[in-house]
Amino acid sequence: MPYRLLRQPSGAMAVHDSRTGETMHPGLGPWQEAQQLYVAGSQLALRLKEPAPAQANPPLTVFDVGLGAAANALAALACREALLAGPAAARRVRPLHLVSFEQELEPLRFAIAQAAQLGYPRGREALLQALLDQGRAEAAGVTWELRLGDLVHLIAEEPCRADVIFFDPFSPKANPELWSLPVLESLHGCRRPGSDTVLVTYSSAFSTRAALLLAGFYVGEGPRLGGRLTTVAATRCSLLAAPLDPGWLRRWRREREPWPLLSSPAARAALRERLLDHPQWSQVEEPPAPPAPRPGAPRRRVGKDTAGLHTAGPHTGGRRRSGRRGDARWGDDTRSRGGDPLNGPPRRDTRREPAPGHGRPPQKRRP
Ligand SMILES: C[S@@+](CC[C@H](N)C(=O)[O-])C[C@H]1O[C@@H](n2cnc3c(N)ncnc32)[C@H](O)[C@@H]1O
Repeated sequence: MPYRLLRQPSGAMAVHDSRTGETMHPGLGPWQEAQQLYVAGSQLALRLKEPAPAQANPPLTVFDVGLGAAANALAALACREALLAGPAAARRVRPLHLVSFEQELEPLRFAIAQAAQLGYPRGREALLQALLDQGRAEAAGVTWELRLGDLVHLIAEEPCRADVIFFDPFSPKANPELWSLPVLESLHGCRRPGSDTVLVTYSSAFSTRAALLLAGFYVGEGPRLGGRLTTVAATRCSLLAAPLDPGWLRRWRREREPWPLLSSPAARAALRERLLDHPQWSQVEEPPAPPAPRPGAPRRRVGKDTAGLHTAGPHTGGRRRSGRRGDARWGDDTRSRGGDPLNGPPRRDTRREPAPGHGRPPQKRRP
């Protein structure tokens, strides 16, 4: 059995995989990370309460990439239950359709066996066992389906359309194929037509964000996790609370243009052109440059404390420009490119971005 429990700095237990040397949800532990990043970062509660556009009340479909020990999926379930139990009970709560992708069921078996120690699976054992045994589980208002196999192949043939994507593979180092452009393009292809699809992930690496942009998403800062940057991507720029601005693109260049994982060097000139052409750069303005620090003054803390989707809280990232013009290549929320995003006014840029592969503490699963 390659899995064992590992206590995290938060005190919570998490599942450690000795083959990859990575821990699922390091630092905060599974339940806190599932709540703070995947549930809050995707504004799941709000989306479950959304009045449906049609008369019917269609389910909200969540793609759970990397079911693992099921913390993210169970957090989605708990989010819906909390809505039903709370003051929102009078409002309409949408059914939840969970589609979990996983190639290895041992972590789920381990989570059931260790439910008492992990905490979050307690009381859910029968549901999880049904998913294991039948590849499908049902609870009131919830349908949960398992897609067993390699996501690289499964996603190209996935018939369901996603409203929300929890993107939680192992790190780009351990799982490079899942962070590659073709897989992210396939995920983008699974967005629900005419609806706002969002993807949340713990990685903030330049290569991850570049791949998400190239796959067709708009990309922004996600909620901070104990000081770590995360990423939220969406099918419309205006959904993002803190969209990346042209300053990010300049930093991407300074990082020697980190490419989507597994991209061929021969394709890079074309990828670079596509990235520069992304409509996000004409929709988002850079915030004003901060004043230069006085000599000897303590270095200003950088980054954002609140981010995610636009409705999540204060908008703290790049400012969106007003006015729109469509561009069929990029969907329905685009403007033409205004000038070269790499040659904006020279600004002092004190913000830091983790280098690719350095979005997480070194001893943890995600570099
Ligand atoms: C970080 S863990 C997921 C943790 C999980 N989201 C949770 O809440 O407990 C990553 C998972 O991705 C799965 N995985 C890795 N490569 C995969 C692939 N190619 N297709 C499907 N699943 C994969 C691993 O087996 C592992 O369980």
